[in-house]
Amino acid sequence: MNEKILQVEKLQTEFTKDKQKIKILHDVSFHINKGEILGLVGESGCGKSLTSLSIMRLFKGTSGEIAGGRIEFDGEDLTTLTESQMRKIRGKKMAMIFQEPMTSLNPVMRIGEQLMEPVRLHLGLKDKQAKKHVISILTKVGIPRPEEIFNEYPHQLSGGMRQRIMIAMAMSCHPNLLIADEPTTALDVTIQAQILDLMQQLQQQEDMSILLITHDLGVVAEMCDRVVVMYAGKVVEEASVYELFENPKHPYSKGLIGSVPKIGQKKDKLDSIKGNVPDPSNMPIGCKFAPRCKEAMPICFEKEPTSTRLENNRLCSCWHYDKGRGKLHV
Ligand SMILES: Nc1ncnc2c1ncn2[C@@H]1O[C@H](COP(=O)(O)OP(=O)(O)OP(=O)(O)O)[C@@H](O)[C@H]1O
Ligand SMILES: [Mg+2]
Repeated sequence: MNEKILQVEKLQTEFTKDKQKIKILHDVSFHINKGEILGLVGESGCGKSLTSLSIMRLFKGTSGEIAGGRIEFDGEDLTTLTESQMRKIRGKKMAMIFQEPMTSLNPVMRIGEQLMEPVRLHLGLKDKQAKKHVISILTKVGIPRPEEIFNEYPHQLSGGMRQRIMIAMAMSCHPNLLIADEPTTALDVTIQAQILDLMQQLQQQEDMSILLITHDLGVVAEMCDRVVVMYAGKVVEEASVYELFENPKHPYSKGLIGSVPKIGQKKDKLDSIKGNVPDPSNMPIGCKFAPRCKEAMPICFEKEPTSTRLENNRLCSCWHYDKGRGKLHV
């Protein structure tokens, strides 16, 4: 039996706009096992980043709040913790890497100083020891001339190097869970491959778990053990990487996999999904994917399907697999 590091259960997150609450995450449930890389995929706007921000409780400056559900991490329900309790977890037991490193690095602070902050705070190391620790982490993430880079500013580095610095910062206190939100999207393909390699290596060395958020199914195929597919703020399918690619069950997953170009395939022959993700303030009744679904049946426009467990522990939320379908049709 796999041990779970994170269990998200029926998570609901909403924003307030013009005094109206708009629910974005609708009962999102999934788990991550210890030492596993879980992929979270879905089109832009489906709620991937919001899921990670909800786990980290990073809503500062927005009206975002958790309206329901549980986030169990390391034996505690994070939704019940105070901000100061969360601060002890963030950066220590759980760390995050964002897509664009410049938004997370302080441009007017030397790299070394920025990296020393969490090390001082969470590991309690003093100046000399903290510096030694930081230099060793910089070396570990493949930064050349770490002693010199220590005294440089973020703008003096290339995009790939900055992303390595972000990884170093995230890894500096040896977290049990790393959340990586599109960590390589802004990088060119060769650098992207190096960063992914580095993350994979560190994951194995540290026996860490990773939640890898990406819209790139190639990255998922290469990196992940299992995948959660989200659509319009809901989990529609969960399966091992192999099974998802080999035999996707949900029509949305089939569409996502069908939209990946294969060598020699003409662009107009791509089996892409027509239409757009619905507006969160105007969600369709029934299955949220029904208006775009090639396999939709009348019931799909009337009632939401529930998540059904299928063979090999996979989950799918679609009327084609929902056992209650027969009853509802009479
Ligand atoms: N601060 C905010 N205020 C109001 N709505 C927000 C806010 N942040 C996100 N949303 C809404 O939440 C939904 C999910 O956004 P999220 O950023 O999680 O999508 P995503 O899946 O990460 O997309 P992408 O692939 O483009 O990064 C979107 O409809 C977005 O408009
Ligand atoms: Mg995002």
